[in-house]
Amino acid sequence: MKKEKGLRSHEWFGKKDKMGFIYRSWMRNQGIPDHHFDGRPVIGICNTWSELTPCNAHFRDFAEVVKRGVYEAGGFPVEFPVTSLGETLLKPTAMLFRNLASMDVEESIRGNPIDGVVLMTGCDKTTPSLVMGAASVGLPTIVMPGGPMLNGKYKGEDIGSGTHVWKFHEDLKAGNITEEDFFHAESCMSRSQGHCMTMGTASTMACMVESLGLTLPGAAAIPAADSRKKVLAHMTGRRIVEMVKEDLTIEKILTREAFENSIKVNAAIGGSTNFIIHLTAIAGRIGVELDLSDFDDLGSKIPLLLNLMPSGKFLMEDFYYAGGLPVIIKQLKSHLHNDTITVNGKPIGENNKPAECYNNEVIATIDEPLIEEAGIAVLKGNLAENGAVIKPSAATPELMQHKGRAVVFEDIEDYNARVNDPDLDIDETCVMVLKNVGPKGYPGMPEVGNMGLPTKILKKGITDMVRISDGRMSGTAYGTVVLHVSPESAVGGTLGLVQNGDMIELDVEQRRLHLDISDGELAERRKNWKPIVLEESHRGYVGLYIKHVEQSNKGADMDFLKGKSGSVVKRDSH
Ligand code: FES
Repeated sequence: MKKEKGLRSHEWFGKKDKMGFIYRSWMRNQGIPDHHFDGRPVIGICNTWSELTPCNAHFRDFAEVVKRGVYEAGGFPVEFPVTSLGETLLKPTAMLFRNLASMDVEESIRGNPIDGVVLMTGCDKTTPSLVMGAASVGLPTIVMPGGPMLNGKYKGEDIGSGTHVWKFHEDLKAGNITEEDFFHAESCMSRSQGHCMTMGTASTMACMVESLGLTLPGAAAIPAADSRKKVLAHMTGRRIVEMVKEDLTIEKILTREAFENSIKVNAAIGGSTNFIIHLTAIAGRIGVELDLSDFDDLGSKIPLLLNLMPSGKFLMEDFYYAGGLPVIIKQLKSHLHNDTITVNGKPIGENNKPAECYNNEVIATIDEPLIEEAGIAVLKGNLAENGAVIKPSAATPELMQHKGRAVVFEDIEDYNARVNDPDLDIDETCVMVLKNVGPKGYPGMPEVGNMGLPTKILKKGITDMVRISDGRMSGTAYGTVVLHVSPESAVGGTLGLVQNGDMIELDVEQRRLHLDISDGELAERRKNWKPIVLEESHRGYVGLYIKHVEQSNKGADMDFLKGKSGSVVKRDSH
């Protein structure tokens, strides 16, 4: 057995004592030959395959392709499953379990004989949870994004995951389509393997990891069903072996400059508001200072270049055929740090130099962008002392400066019970306020911030109103929706003190969100405010989460998970 002192897997497989016997012998029951224990890099393939995460259900095949690349480069691949979070099925919300999954990933990597890791990511939360966990260990790490579905096709029209669900549902409520049409659209929307193919959170996360430098160039947009995704998987497997040999660890890639690049790229692609929470949480693990204001300062002056739903017209398949993320990165070169190192060992600017755009309808030029200034606006005011966010490219321009009467829903049950009541005292000038949907209050900060409009408003042909909550919004959704209000209502934030009939002012240009009542009245209401106590707070993971989760402006990670514990484990198991 060759001694490869530099590899951590040697601490397991390189031992000549009783422990070495144990570590190797049980692995041999899988038919592992001697030479796999000769000191070659052991590559963990961290797989979020699950039939309950339909967006990642093709990952068993993909992992086999990654292994081919690992073998080819002289590595020893070991695939392991981790908690997989499916956005569509998991109740009460996948976000509640992002931090739990990250703990699973972190300890699975740290506790095992792994020298480098491939993260197989797809559905929304599977990307941040894996990157957070891996960042807290610090090994060479490469991300293999699973890819979007092919475009939805319905009655000769392209339809987008999520975006068209909201649209069809509103059309159904307004009486514009039949129930039969509504059900027929289901199979037309999700017609291949892969994740949501709008610029929803999954696509945003794939672009996030590519712009951070954690994937091979061009990885994000390749559809899951395209054979070139398998080529990417193969090359990813090859590359991680080299990364181990070069000791190209994740902290060498995730620098402050890489985060700044990612914020700017996210603005140019019209990425999801969920990007803010996840990127902040990743920064917290790797030890990079990132503040909510960075997203506005760095991103809000960046032009919108990508014409994808929900902000625009096209879908991820079109994005790939138009040239993909490399075109965006190349066009933004005067805004980016072009010398940040990526997983292939080269600077991001150099990687994307050869990119060419094949369709300017899908990817606009920087000289003629779709919107001059995109990005995410961070609002402040007495209603959001720590900030709130809005995505202007998905909002109605006329509503970006608006003053309206609050119609308050105390929680999601109250909203569901009353929103379609014909007697609800509301018109289109009102501001809909939803409380107790933040990290602690729901718990888990679900994607309900884009709450549907009352049926009686939809029947008038109105499609947007100002909505405010401490929750999140699906990346596939749209509207003049103020999200992530912090501090949340459940911890005594001002949002929890809003009453029906209060006037609320939104001014996106001035970055202002204001509850128009006197300080004295606010103080009086605060004195009488009582926290809600959720039944779930008493035990288990959810109890732990409620106790330790931080506010959304800090990434909604748990306080004790910030930072990293590294990759060293001093004690053996027997
Ligand atoms: Fe999985 Fe949208 S539901 S990516």
